[in-house]
Amino acid sequence: MTETSSAVNSLMAAIADVGTDPRRGGYSRPVWSPAEKDLRAWFLQEAHARGLDTEEDRNGILWAWWDLPAPARAESLEGSRRGALVTGSHLDSVPGGGAFDGPLGIASALAAVDVLRTREATGTLRRRRALAVAVFPEEEGSRFGVACLGSRLLSGAISTQKALALRDADGVTFGEAARAEGLDPAHMGVDPEALARIGQFVELHVEQGRGLNSPDHLTDGAPALAVGSTILGHGRWRIAFHGQGNHAGTTLMADRSDPMVAASETVLDVRRLARTQPQARATVGRLEPVPGGTNVIASRVDLWMDVRHPDDAVTAGLVEDIWRHAQQAALGEGCTAELTEESFSGTVHFDPQLAATLTESVRRTAPTAPLLPTGAGHDAGVLASAVPTGMIYVRNPSGVSHAPEEHVEDDDATLGVQALADALEELL
Ligand code: GLV
Ligand code: MN
Ligand code: MN
Ligand code: MN
Repeated sequence: MTETSSAVNSLMAAIADVGTDPRRGGYSRPVWSPAEKDLRAWFLQEAHARGLDTEEDRNGILWAWWDLPAPARAESLEGSRRGALVTGSHLDSVPGGGAFDGPLGIASALAAVDVLRTREATGTLRRRRALAVAVFPEEEGSRFGVACLGSRLLSGAISTQKALALRDADGVTFGEAARAEGLDPAHMGVDPEALARIGQFVELHVEQGRGLNSPDHLTDGAPALAVGSTILGHGRWRIAFHGQGNHAGTTLMADRSDPMVAASETVLDVRRLARTQPQARATVGRLEPVPGGTNVIASRVDLWMDVRHPDDAVTAGLVEDIWRHAQQAALGEGCTAELTEESFSGTVHFDPQLAATLTESVRRTAPTAPLLPTGAGHDAGVLASAVPTGMIYVRNPSGVSHAPEEHVEDDDATLGVQALADALEELL
């Protein structure tokens, strides 16, 4: 259809069988699982096939470099990588997630390199700097609980000590898992040199809500693409309810201290209190009873909640309210409760100048492409505190994400690559 042909769609088709989850549906590709490692290997292979120079940095971030040719470099190779233009995303997924959240950004980046290569070969593109494609580990936080762990480590948004101590569901620490992947935990953490390589970061991503398919976009000529404006502030909290584990048959209803009851009241409070704030989103997506037997009153229930709002003070107030109600629910049930903040990221406003450049480029492909806020977190959001970042969204006709129904039409993916290539060319 265009010079981007269907490279992005072939790349996505090549990984369509990796990490499918027959039980949950969709894909489960937690960081450093066999599936995610297959995708990392696929990425390296595709990068090598394009003659890109690849490396893994000390935080497990993969980089594939399209360097300036030696005659065009005024300095050393390393020097010429400082202030590069970087694009990329992630390859890990939530449990039972969709095909596009993450991998679309990687496949589109590789396809955009193909387009730019051709433009350079035909003399229509003259570059001033290197381009890199980056793959960030543990973007979803589905294994170690903190999202965007790779970009947080890189930029110092999380302390190395805290990151290394995070545990997965099997009790394996992030530090142990990193070591098993050949990384050295003693050298993980903020990496000023790697950070200095990023002049600007652009992430292409599937749109994850109804941002491009709301009723006013369902007309002919509706835009397939958008440019990111803001990311809602968001965080994760865990409430542990402690009660008395006991026998389901012998314990009278009046004699129980059942943490599942306190947790359940809290689930309803989360929804009720969030609804008092028009722009808030609050979710209990994970509840874990210990020991977890049908005929056992739990001794402990962990409840994880995700709370988001554009005003960080409102988020904090909402969490406080929820916590007050959770303590009351625990007390009423003869239980105790503890609250832990696992992560928080304030509301992000993407770099206005970069957003303007992206908008101009994207509108060549999608003339009515809007600037769109999102409620989803991204590595581009974490990196925004250190370097100018921006995002391009591709329409998702299902309006569903973090679920198997997430979808992107082939033609829209192709438009996304076209727009990404134009934007990168403008910035190169
Ligand atoms: C990650 O995708 C998030 O927004 O939670
Ligand atoms: Mn996601
Ligand atoms: Mn994502
Ligand atoms: Mn995300």
